[in-house]
Amino acid sequence: MISKKMLDALNKQINAEMYSSYLYQSMSAWLSWKNLNGFAKWFAVQAREETKHAMKFYDYIYDQLGRVTLAAIDAPPADFASVKNIAAKQLEHEKKVTGMINNLVKLAREEKDYATEIFLQWFVTEQVEEEKNAEEIILKLEMLGDKGQALYLLDKEMGKRE
Ligand SMILES: [Fe+2]
Ligand SMILES: [Fe+2]
Repeated sequence: MISKKMLDALNKQINAEMYSSYLYQSMSAWLSWKNLNGFAKWFAVQAREETKHAMKFYDYIYDQLGRVTLAAIDAPPADFASVKNIAAKQLEHEKKVTGMINNLVKLAREEKDYATEIFLQWFVTEQVEEEKNAEEIILKLEMLGDKGQALYLLDKEMGKRE
């Protein structure tokens, strides 16, 4: 069993992961509109990953005999200045999520909830990967440029993500 406080925090994280999914799907929608279909695909795959993160929390709550309660998901921004702006916003968002995961670990420690602390380890590791992926997109855009042929080729590469 987990405490009410821990349960509430985990339920909140389901909402945060769903918001991440919504945010990346909104970025994907904007990218499709700009005919950057490779980038659009990359962000659509990322959106699906975030839904899977939400479901990991969901399943864990039931493993602990808790109850899932779903709240409204905030609307993500619909307009973005550029593909570079999207990449910067993604990194900023992932850093924010890393902070949320760290706070959950902190709470689990305060509660001496070792099972939840171990469950959260996967997310601690995942956030390192998430920040790295976001950083890589920024670096590629800086290295190659975000216009013309360079952007065309980078878009093709991004579209390879399954
Ligand atoms: Fe996530
Ligand atoms: Fe993420």
